[in-house]
Amino acid sequence: MKTVIDGMTIGYTDDGSGTPLVFIHAFPLSKTMWQPQVDALKDTHRVITIDLGGHGDSDIVPWNDSLDGYAKNIIRLLDHLEITQAVFVGLSMGGYTLFSIYRHHPNRVKGMVLADTRAQADSEEGQVARQSMAEVAFKDGASAIADLMLPKLLAPSTIEQRPEIVEEVREMILQTPTAGIVVDLVAMASRPDSTALLSTITCPTLVIVGEEDQATPVAESQYMVDCISGVTFVTIPHAGHLSNFEQPIAFNQAIESFLETHGL
Ligand code: MLT
Repeated sequence: MKTVIDGMTIGYTDDGSGTPLVFIHAFPLSKTMWQPQVDALKDTHRVITIDLGGHGDSDIVPWNDSLDGYAKNIIRLLDHLEITQAVFVGLSMGGYTLFSIYRHHPNRVKGMVLADTRAQADSEEGQVARQSMAEVAFKDGASAIADLMLPKLLAPSTIEQRPEIVEEVREMILQTPTAGIVVDLVAMASRPDSTALLSTITCPTLVIVGEEDQATPVAESQYMVDCISGVTFVTIPHAGHLSNFEQPIAFNQAIESFLETHGL
């Protein structure tokens, strides 16, 4: 599904009815990564997935190069869909974007799920690595980015034993235009630190992490858990960074139980 808001085409899906759940994808993927969650949750909730700018069916807006810009477009889509409050689920870059939503629109957030993400900004070393990756994207395109990212996104056991998952994720990366990849990298490198935000979070919050996540290791999630009061923490065995896609049953159970506990 697509809609045009203020001249920008935004790709999204909208299934089911009930409390809205809004899913925000990781780098350098698209709303497709949430298919296992759409399938599992659409019978009980209104499930929305969105393509960030330059991904999937959404326009590239190269000048809109910040996670705040991504957050703004999500809020614009929700306004368009007449949704005032939702439970947001952000994985990795989706989590960074969710911090921006909470920073600017806390009243829109009924609950949040921070999956395989971190609150810290990039270190200087991390920013330099983003620049190198942007150069690779410009020179060699999305397939070179797929080669670099697959070992970061997936657990070693997934890479060794589940070629169909590896191929699906590779395909998602190949669908992302180079400009979209570069805009993400610039946006992530310049994102603010969100550690001070953690203690201000008052809505029900769930932190999920794959036990074999190398990109945002368990310690990063533990840090968020230590700072957010009343948070629920779930670790997912046999999953790397893309825990929702590698172990959808365990990931969905964590979300279902969180929603049920909080009457969401
Ligand atoms: C992601 O999965 O969105 C990225 O790995 C996040 C990052 O590179 O910081």
